[in-house]
Amino acid sequence: MVTSASVPQRPVGLAAFDLEGRTALITGAAGLLGQEHAAALAQIGARVILTDVDLAKAESVALELKALYPDLIIPAQMDVTRADSIKHVASQLGPIDILVNNAAIDPKFDRSADQVETSRLEHFPLESWDFQIAVGLTGAFLCSQILGAVMASRGFGVILNIASDLSVIAPDQRLYRKEGLMDEDQPVKPVTYSVIKAGLVGLTRYLAGYWADSGVRVNTLSPGGVFNDHDEVFVRRLTDLIPMGRMADRSEYRSAVQFLCSPASSYMTGQNILIDGGRTLL
Ligand SMILES: NC(=O)c1ccc[n+]([C@@H]2O[C@H](COP(=O)([O-])OP(=O)(O)OC[C@H]3O[C@@H](n4cnc5c(N)ncnc54)[C@H](O)[C@@H]3O)[C@@H](O)[C@H]2O)c1
Repeated sequence: MVTSASVPQRPVGLAAFDLEGRTALITGAAGLLGQEHAAALAQIGARVILTDVDLAKAESVALELKALYPDLIIPAQMDVTRADSIKHVASQLGPIDILVNNAAIDPKFDRSADQVETSRLEHFPLESWDFQIAVGLTGAFLCSQILGAVMASRGFGVILNIASDLSVIAPDQRLYRKEGLMDEDQPVKPVTYSVIKAGLVGLTRYLAGYWADSGVRVNTLSPGGVFNDHDEVFVRRLTDLIPMGRMADRSEYRSAVQFLCSPASSYMTGQNILIDGGRTLL
């Protein structure tokens, strides 16, 4: 019989958020949200390896964060689409206790030379499909495979996949409409975004089940849209769809990242946490 006496002692309350002595690796960490994840984890004591394909950007973000957390921030170049790149960083700076799969391509609306809107499904180039999935989904698989396997062999680890509210709902393409264009020329959120974000939820469930008895927990965080100087029309259209009536501030996911990456969430694995101002509740 399992009694409370046979359950190992775990820190409770605020003590459960302590990551001192742990090493976290964040992918795509030089971007808008990656640096927030880095600050969140350093704030609770983790040593943070701030990785990005763009080393100059990673170094510049790291410099800012080092002013607050001098001994905890380490920038590194890492391309999530390349196993050798991930293995190199792990061998130099590992072992990794916490992995945040955050890297993604922010799809740009783009008209091809023959004036076709290439974000639209009918014209979406196979190269864009391959490239965006390689970074957003295959990259998360590769990092989890390489770093997660070591976590499992050590009996401890946390993986956090960063998806989106679009992991559970379809994009509302009316948000992206531009005045003066015919319907067939209107830009759209590309198909890859939905496929990648839903795929991350599947990857999360698979890995969570696979490593459930190896001490590795895997969850997804699905943020809603973060305000980043978007144009007024877009903000009005989007906020009309959000019950709380506003986009997120970039700092509003920090405490969720702290919860999901620390022992504060010790009994949680395989879940997708939506933080979206209520957008997906309607
Ligand atoms: N910003 C938002 O409103 C929002 C909302 C929901 C979900 N998200 C998700 O949050 C995550 C971060 O978004 P963001 O807004 O900070 O994006 P961002 O574009 O600002 O940052 C992404 C980073 O990934 C890096 N990157 C690209 N290819 C890479 C590769 N091959 N290897 C390593 N790094 C690579 C880029 O250099 C960039 O620094 C993404 O997964 C995004 O889909 C963002």
